[in-house]
Amino acid sequence: MKPSLLMCSPEYFGVRYAINPWMEGQIGQVDPAVAVRQWTDFYNALKRQADIHLIDPQSHVPDLVFTANAGLMHEGHFIPSRFKHEERRREEPIFRKAFESRATRITLLPKNIYFEGAGDALMQPDSNRLWAGYGFRTDREAHPFLAEQLSLEVVSLHLTHPRFYHLDTCFCPLLDDQVMYYPAAFDEPSLQAIEARIPPENRIVVAEEDAVHFACNAVLVGRMLFMNHAGPELAQLIKNKGYMPVIQPVSEFLKAGGANKCLTLPLG
Ligand code: ARG
Repeated sequence: MKPSLLMCSPEYFGVRYAINPWMEGQIGQVDPAVAVRQWTDFYNALKRQADIHLIDPQSHVPDLVFTANAGLMHEGHFIPSRFKHEERRREEPIFRKAFESRATRITLLPKNIYFEGAGDALMQPDSNRLWAGYGFRTDREAHPFLAEQLSLEVVSLHLTHPRFYHLDTCFCPLLDDQVMYYPAAFDEPSLQAIEARIPPENRIVVAEEDAVHFACNAVLVGRMLFMNHAGPELAQLIKNKGYMPVIQPVSEFLKAGGANKCLTLPLG
């Protein structure tokens, strides 16, 4: 069965405030025509492999394109995000409404706990394990709540590098108990938590030059890995593990601190 993904077209995308290091110095710098072209190319490539659902863009929320941050959908049960920054909190009612018809159940987080959805919560395929990031956007306190509500094993990973402020910027679960990740984004206990669960031969370690081009922010559909960039060595490592890297450049979106994975939300 084809996976379902939620996306939002970028008519109103732009950098209009700075809430992460990538956005600094980029206010007003997005070329809207290029952004639309890049997003559309990515959307068309993805559409051949997945069912894409769309939500309507709105002019007052330029980051709405990053649907990964809507919340976390697990087997029809949706946990909406509670954004750390006021600028993105305006997206909450839009996403919440979009899920009234799409989810079988919606559970709200306790007040004052931040959680930025699938940007900080990634399922290991074919397992009961949710990798969950915290430190910049999501509070660690959100993790036991997710574990209980969704009956999942939640592994908490502490993000410590400001450029890798969401887990999906530096970590990508793959098939067969494999992961691709950028170790410098994590603290030591988190690296140990990864290493304790994933044997060395199942780890694709991403180098800094690939990580800063959002190589970890990849969308896995079947054995295809849609990503902004992979240098020749990383591309070879990915191929050696049996995946096909599909390069879909989204440089305009990097100016806002997001790439391919951030532009999609798994619906199931
Ligand atoms: N400008 C957005 C923010 O700072 C980018 C979000 C990227 N999304 C992601 N899942 N990493 O919130």
